[in-house]
Amino acid sequence: MTAVLAADRLSYAYPGSAPVFSELSLEVARGTSLAVLGPNGGGKTTLLRLLCGGLRPAAGRILLDGRPVAYGRAALAEFRTRVQFVHQDPDDQLFAATVGQDVSFGPLNLGLPPEAVAARVASALEDMEIPFLADRPTHLLSFGQRKRVAIAGALALRPVVLILDEPTAGLDPAGTEALLETLRRLQADGTTIIASTHDVDFAHRWARDAAIIARGELRAGPADTLLTDAALLRAASLRPAWGPAVGRALRAVGGLPADAPDPRSPEEVLGLRPEPRP
Ligand SMILES: Nc1ncnc2c1ncn2[C@@H]1O[C@H](COP(=O)(O)OP(=O)(O)O)[C@@H](O)[C@H]1O
Ligand SMILES: [Mg+2]
Repeated sequence: MTAVLAADRLSYAYPGSAPVFSELSLEVARGTSLAVLGPNGGGKTTLLRLLCGGLRPAAGRILLDGRPVAYGRAALAEFRTRVQFVHQDPDDQLFAATVGQDVSFGPLNLGLPPEAVAARVASALEDMEIPFLADRPTHLLSFGQRKRVAIAGALALRPVVLILDEPTAGLDPAGTEALLETLRRLQADGTTIIASTHDVDFAHRWARDAAIIARGELRAGPADTLLTDAALLRAASLRPAWGPAVGRALRAVGGLPADAPDPRSPEEVLGLRPEPRP
């Protein structure tokens, strides 16, 4: 496998501060859903901003399709059309007066003709299920709507890799469910998705792969393996995922066949609906 995106022995320190991490490596499989977990201050945002070219590593490389990212203006602009970053706070991202203007900014900047820009804006808004917001002023939207607009702005560039920093932060349960559905659909369409979170349950439901970053150390692997490792999670100040805990308890009393997968949602335990496997 060639990873679509890789970090190769990255080191980074903010000016005047101790290194956040040194010689950190990570491979992101094409088409995967990767959850980046860790405690507050663990380095999730820093890692994601390095992966999208927003920060330049002190040492080490980022590779896209096996090719090292260059940090000249033109090379970086080209890289950023293929790897898009969505900020945790949509207000750090949105700046135009209306939703349509905001989402069209990226495609306009690519120099696309007006019809192509309009088509991309329309499909990005559709992907996020917000065509009805197109003419609304961004500052009058709810937080969840602003988050959707920020993601639509990234999608309008048709990225190969979509990176989201804490996409569920600040969303209500219905908003989180809707986002989960959207991320699954985008991934099914071929987009590789990386999202940071400290919501282990969300990660267990959504992600195929996981990376846990704490105190400068990173552990990566299949989400099913990492997110059931109670000692590893505890060391990263994370709580165990709910589904595997229930699965273990049910198996102990014969309530679940030994080889059945862990439940992923309360609805699945209640027999209301099966949960898609990542
Ligand atoms: N702009 C900054 N300047 C200095 N230090 C920072 C800055 N942003 C983050 N840090 C520090 O870098 C470390 C990692 O932070 P961050 O990547 O934001 O972690 P997380 O996203 O996991 O909460 C923390 O110790 C944090 O205090
Ligand atoms: Mg962060």
